[in-house]
Amino acid sequence: MMDLHHHLLWGVDDGPESQEVSLEMANMAVEEGITGIVMTPHYMKGVYDNPVADLLQKKRVLEEALAAARVPLALTLGNEVFADLDTAREVKEGKILTLNASRYLLIEFPFSEIPPYEEEVVFQILRQGLVPIIAHPERINIPPREVGIFEDFIHRGCLLQVNTGSLMGFNGKEALARARYFLEHRMAHLLATDAHNTGARRPLMKEALARAAAWVGEEETAAMIQRARDIAADRGVRVNPPVKSKKKKLFFP
Ligand SMILES: [Fe+2]
Repeated sequence: MMDLHHHLLWGVDDGPESQEVSLEMANMAVEEGITGIVMTPHYMKGVYDNPVADLLQKKRVLEEALAAARVPLALTLGNEVFADLDTAREVKEGKILTLNASRYLLIEFPFSEIPPYEEEVVFQILRQGLVPIIAHPERINIPPREVGIFEDFIHRGCLLQVNTGSLMGFNGKEALARARYFLEHRMAHLLATDAHNTGARRPLMKEALARAAAWVGEEETAAMIQRARDIAADRGVRVNPPVKSKKKKLFFP
């Protein structure tokens, strides 16, 4: 399995603080059935803006450590970018990495709201021939009646990536409800761990996949797994249009 969103590199963002913890996370990932990770350090101007050369250097060190410890895990690199009106240009300039140098760019929005300028941000990214993947939309605290805004982003050409931890309730009841809503309405195109540590935000896959399968079936779950593989290999992916909600609103339990 491919994990497209994972903060495995130590000392570059709010992920692991040491190489030892990175190794521990890598072992946990393998136990969860993960065979490849696109490492996605945060890119947030003024907060986390690690030069690409530094990320590549740490990637090499970690790869050597994994080989020495015989951990069967393939590593590639990307970023999770806190998207703003400079993002598209900064990708072009090589400051921000797409997922494994593919056409796919992992972006995140603030947790509190979706600022109006994000529409333009997404437009600029798409105009560059890239496909924005919106990270953990279920964690964005928008009122239930506004959840349809994500249908607009999907229709424009974005993909949505839901966190496995959200399916397990680790990000709260509301994130769990939104995650389930996105899955059931075929608006969740991808699942990824967004792992940060070996504790509450550890690499988690098996249990979450079982839960996804219980909600939407084996076939849809397998499609999400396959899409992650295709994206890491820069292949095109097929998605179904969002299922129109029978309920008028999303209700939180
Ligand atoms: Fe993340």
